[in-house]
Amino acid sequence: MTLSELYEKGRRIIGEKDLAFFLEAVETGFITEHDRRIIDRYTFRQRCIDGVEADPATEILGLELKTPVIMSAITMPIPAIVDDGLMAVAEGLKEAGSLMWTGTPVPMDLKGLKATGVALAATAKPFKDRARMFEALEKIQSGGADWVGLEIDVGQGTKIKDRPIVADCAPLTLKEIREVRRNVSGPFWLKGVLSRIDAEKAGEAGADGIVVSNHGAHTLDYLPHPFQVMDEIMEAARGRLAVVVDGGIRRGSDVVKALAFGASAAGLGRPILWALAAGGREGVRDLVREITEEARRIMSLVGASAPTRVPREALIQD
Ligand SMILES: Cc1cc2nc3c(=O)[nH]c(=O)nc-3n(C[C@H](O)[C@H](O)[C@H](O)COP(=O)(O)O)c2cc1C
Repeated sequence: MTLSELYEKGRRIIGEKDLAFFLEAVETGFITEHDRRIIDRYTFRQRCIDGVEADPATEILGLELKTPVIMSAITMPIPAIVDDGLMAVAEGLKEAGSLMWTGTPVPMDLKGLKATGVALAATAKPFKDRARMFEALEKIQSGGADWVGLEIDVGQGTKIKDRPIVADCAPLTLKEIREVRRNVSGPFWLKGVLSRIDAEKAGEAGADGIVVSNHGAHTLDYLPHPFQVMDEIMEAARGRLAVVVDGGIRRGSDVVKALAFGASAAGLGRPILWALAAGGREGVRDLVREITEEARRIMSLVGASAPTRVPREALIQD
């Protein structure tokens, strides 16, 4: 199956299973089309003569990956898409040499997912009941996740269309994030940064990495696409924090744009769900392999031998 066929089949099956709602966007739906419009504003500065062959393998905070194409934090509705869906995703991503990132709820069997050998990250939500947040963090750490993440962008809960989904959250203070940091032994990530000020505070809190994200349009309407704020965020993050970007990443070209802005990796949200629905474990593996191969070709033609070497000048803005 080509990438387009995988997406088309996955969308159809998710529709047939009555799960399409979970992939919709908050309130007006503005973000979905806007994400695409912003990504499409950039084209590539091609350099053919004396070109390089790119190798997509990369290392992020001690994890060796075969690709800068990783999964974004999602748990629901994976188990509803196929039986043992989380395991299928773990195995597919392991085969592709990528990273699995789970969201809410923290999967019951993180240890089982980790036993596949996949690089594994997981996030917790800032539940109003902070004891519940610390329980989730504990579950992530005892489950053997390589990275621990905290979602800073759901202080007002999550919402799809007009329906609140997670309502029992409250915003985090810098002091609270520092306390969480003290309780986390491995690399610690904050997900949902969309401004320079939050990137600076992430550094002050002792985070090792940030995910620049509008939460796949499941929090506030009219949030920008991460590319619109990447330059200001990189001023605060460069040399200090690892950066992952997600939101509307669908092809290798989108990934290379994220790398050019200074990200170490780009995250896939909905594409993982479509690929899982369309082809199970192999679907997820082929999705990441295809996007990685597209990204490798483009990296070569912008003169970048590695994901960390894609220059900002590779992008031409409309
Ligand atoms: C069905 C669904 C569930 C999600 N669950 C979570 C979650 O539990 N925690 C989280 O931080 N982000 C969650 N996200 C957001 C993703 O991590 C990611 O930021 C977003 O999907 C990326 O955009 P994309 O879907 O356009 O690739 C979810 C997204 C979707 C579509």
